[in-house]
Amino acid sequence: MSNVINAQHWILENKTTFDQPINLNYGSKDATFILEDVKYDLNDSKLLKKGELLIESLFFSNDPAQKGWWSKQPGYVAPSPPHSPAPSRGIAKVIKANSENYKEGDIISSNINWATHNIIPEAQFGTYKIDPTRFDSLTKYLSVFGSTTLTAYVSAYKYAELTDPENSQDKVFLVTGAAGAVGAVLVQIFAKVFKAKKVLAVAGGDEKVKYVESLGNGNVYGLDYKSKTYKEDFAKAIGDDKIDVYVDQVGGEILDHASFFLKDFGRIVQVGTIAGYNDISKAAFKAYSNVVTKRLSIRGFIVSDDREQFPQIIQHLSELIKSGVIDASKIKETVVDGSGENFKKVPELWNGLFSGKNTGKYITRVTSDPNIK
Ligand SMILES: NC(=O)c1ccc[n+]([C@@H]2O[C@H](COP(=O)([O-])OP(=O)(O)OC[C@H]3O[C@@H](n4cnc5c(N)ncnc54)[C@H](OP(=O)(O)O)[C@@H]3O)[C@@H](O)[C@H]2O)c1
Repeated sequence: MSNVINAQHWILENKTTFDQPINLNYGSKDATFILEDVKYDLNDSKLLKKGELLIESLFFSNDPAQKGWWSKQPGYVAPSPPHSPAPSRGIAKVIKANSENYKEGDIISSNINWATHNIIPEAQFGTYKIDPTRFDSLTKYLSVFGSTTLTAYVSAYKYAELTDPENSQDKVFLVTGAAGAVGAVLVQIFAKVFKAKKVLAVAGGDEKVKYVESLGNGNVYGLDYKSKTYKEDFAKAIGDDKIDVYVDQVGGEILDHASFFLKDFGRIVQVGTIAGYNDISKAAFKAYSNVVTKRLSIRGFIVSDDREQFPQIIQHLSELIKSGVIDASKIKETVVDGSGENFKKVPELWNGLFSGKNTGKYITRVTSDPNIK
């Protein structure tokens, strides 16, 4: 057997902006990414420095936030070095380790980047070993127990600033991006755990509307923002109520319209502005004056701010799932194939986030090993 690994890396060649989509015209000098072949010689004693791991990617987490991690503009993560693989979180297997903490065969969650194989420092932020036997599939570490679920949890329990979250029977919530990874968990938390009076759940298309409605106990009103009758449907669903807490993942026109239905002293939890990731003008909050007239609070956050609480949050979520209050089988995954020859489609597959290709957590499978679930 050859001791050379023929790897492929999607190099972030031209950093992105929030003014335009990624450029997938790989022949052009402005292409966002280029695909490169890389060899790793396992016989090379200098292959790994102390504390480095050679990993094989198994699954990529497709996150809208990557558009920001790849950006020219400063963000909340350190910029990646020039001519390196595009940052991405995911799950990988350790092939070789020069480490006292990791060994060959370990499965890890980390910033593994868009590479079939890659060398990463073990001390890299957000790297940890996972137990492959704990769930029926490794992808559960990205979906049910992934950072998007943690984002949903802190949106509801911390940033919504409810004094008694699980006693919210009189409350009305609005969630945009409701059929996605963060949104679908949030809808379940508001509808089932907090037992809300109403959850208005905004998503694109009939199928997604049906899905989000299935996440509640008759208290979720799915609203298709792509439908011509969206505003009428919204008015019908909200009736004479007003919104207590609006968890916004989209911004722009949906935010403008919905802000008129917030209660005085209501709260917007600002999780993301996906409407503007490819054209920042589309995320603009034109009805900003509602913040004054309704005396609103807007609170943004980044989930990693709360990393110290993650073990307790996971413990609480596990109890909610075990007791059946949250139905884990309804936390969907959309897993697409980026293995083998399909590795060349990785950027296109990721870009599907902006046309709603996913319901629930959007994952690219990189491994072609059928035994890895
Ligand atoms: N603050 C944090 O720490 C944090 C952490 C995780 C995620 N986020 C943010 O939370 C949001 C959701 O992330 P996610 O990982 O759960 O992604 P996701 O919701 O699973 O996937 C993105 C979804 O957004 C919807 N979408 C795309 N373009 C849209 C547009 N122009 N208008 C309305 N909806 C649009 C699509 O669904 P439809 O078919 O319904 O259009 C798509 O499926 C993103 O804004 C992300 O940046 C923030």
